[in-house]
Amino acid sequence: NGTGTAVTGAGSSQDTRTAAGENAQTLTTRQGHPVTNNQNSRTVGNRGPVTLENYQLLEKISHFDRERIPERVVHARGAGAHGVFESYGTVGNDPISKYTRAKLFQEKGKQTPVFVRFSTVIHSSHSPETLRDPRGFAVKFYTEDGNWDLVGNNLKVFFIRDALKFPDVIHSLKPDPITNRQDGGRIFDFMSNTPEAMHMLTFLFSPWGIPANYRQMQGSGVNTYKWVNADGEGHLVKYHWEPLQGIKNLTQPEAEKIQAKNFNHATQDLYDHIAKGEFPQWEFRVQLMPDGDHPELDFDPLDDTKIWPEDQFPMYPIGKMTLSKNPENYFAEVEQVAFGTGVLVDGLDFSDDKMLQGRTFSYSDTQRYRVGTNYLQLPINAPKKHVATNQRDGQMTYHVDTAPGQNPHVNYEPSSLNGLKEAPRSAPDHKPHYNGVLIRETIDRQNNFKQAGERWRLHEEWEKEDLVNNLVDAISAAEQHIQDKMVELFTQCDPEYGQRVAEGLKKHAEMSNSNGQAGMNGKKESDAVAQAEER
Ligand code: HEM
Repeated sequence: NGTGTAVTGAGSSQDTRTAAGENAQTLTTRQGHPVTNNQNSRTVGNRGPVTLENYQLLEKISHFDRERIPERVVHARGAGAHGVFESYGTVGNDPISKYTRAKLFQEKGKQTPVFVRFSTVIHSSHSPETLRDPRGFAVKFYTEDGNWDLVGNNLKVFFIRDALKFPDVIHSLKPDPITNRQDGGRIFDFMSNTPEAMHMLTFLFSPWGIPANYRQMQGSGVNTYKWVNADGEGHLVKYHWEPLQGIKNLTQPEAEKIQAKNFNHATQDLYDHIAKGEFPQWEFRVQLMPDGDHPELDFDPLDDTKIWPEDQFPMYPIGKMTLSKNPENYFAEVEQVAFGTGVLVDGLDFSDDKMLQGRTFSYSDTQRYRVGTNYLQLPINAPKKHVATNQRDGQMTYHVDTAPGQNPHVNYEPSSLNGLKEAPRSAPDHKPHYNGVLIRETIDRQNNFKQAGERWRLHEEWEKEDLVNNLVDAISAAEQHIQDKMVELFTQCDPEYGQRVAEGLKKHAEMSNSNGQAGMNGKKESDAVAQAEER
């Protein structure tokens, strides 16, 4: 059924070699030919030239030439692990069935295997793990109803609220297309024109923007989803992961110290703890709201730049996840794994959150390009349950999705010749009602600054200090009118916030005696160049 376990190792049922002197460890080509000399190419004389019929050399080099697949356009650097999710079966004092019929949650103690990939967002696949960046927290649940992916981040909010802006925000954060360096001038050019980003920036430039490692950080679905119960009734839901190891973040100076010695520290931390048997755990929590627009709130419940205040929408613990097994092969599992927000099971649904809808197109679209048309046949992505489709062929088809007893000539539906049949409907669909005008407009309740101001006031003093320093470092690379605009936006969040950033920028300008461009961390490269020239 395509859920083969062979990720590494022999993988084939014919792994015994029969020729004299050969055994399972005998080196072969991918054609199964024994390799008798892996040190020398076949040449005319021992000084060459090399001949073109040299199958072993060509296979080896041409496979090597293709070892890399395109890296993820975002979240390229990651680490992953296998584990299990265990349901508590309840939401507060209610059985969970009151809100969702999703089978993985129904019974207390029910276990579902998971694979998790943590990541940084902006830079390439071997960039330092100490960089200021949101962290990805993507979970694949291999449920009895097929796969459910919860593709989240560590922070509970996002920069933008419309998927149309995603390429823009990412381009501003990625390296400059000419200099190939991340540049605070470009970042804050975009952000100063994007007031809804203030809440995210108030997290990102504080120590919350550099989690100490992947084990000690939270996770959040960020977008608003729906739960659907057996009667087809929907509730709005937000998902959260709380690390049972506690939360630990780094100030910029702390991160720089680690980066000087180890730029893989988060990958190493996760791998080493699991290898030692110190399995990280997260509690899974949800916030719920009856389905609807909720005009009584001063924010839109579908706006991913907002949190749902916990005093009004409590966090209900509904289960626990434990990661207990490292990947056997990084590429096969962590690199090729493909998560998507469209991958839901019965009882879980989409809300009208515009970002979520845009994301849902993006993930499987990029994965058909990044991994290939048949990416869902790879063991890490295939459900652990039986798969039977009429999808056929395409690059790298590994097997045919037929069912036992199915007429192999029938790869279409409907058919009276023993083809695949639709599943029986077990519960009513959730049927939201739509009656609206097709338009291009932003949401009404934008309220871009209130929660950002609250976040500023919730930060402890050391976090505020780090936040202001980091903002000043990065914003000082921007042109003066952009700096002024940023101060104005922070002042709208909280006058003290704006004032401290303004003072920091003023001091920075006074101290700056060179024209060097600051990067995201504000390092003046021209200072280093000047010092080198003096020497
Ligand atoms: C990865 C698009 C917003 C979390 C990706 C990838 C794309 C993408 C194209 C690469 C996927 C791959 O190659 O497998 C988008 C778009 C967004 C958006 C278009 C907005 C419209 C978000 C948000 C979150 C998020 C709000 C957090 C909740 C992630 C994570 C990954 C990812 C965790 C890495 C998954 C992995 O580990 O393989 N995103 N994204 N993204 N995105 Fe988004």
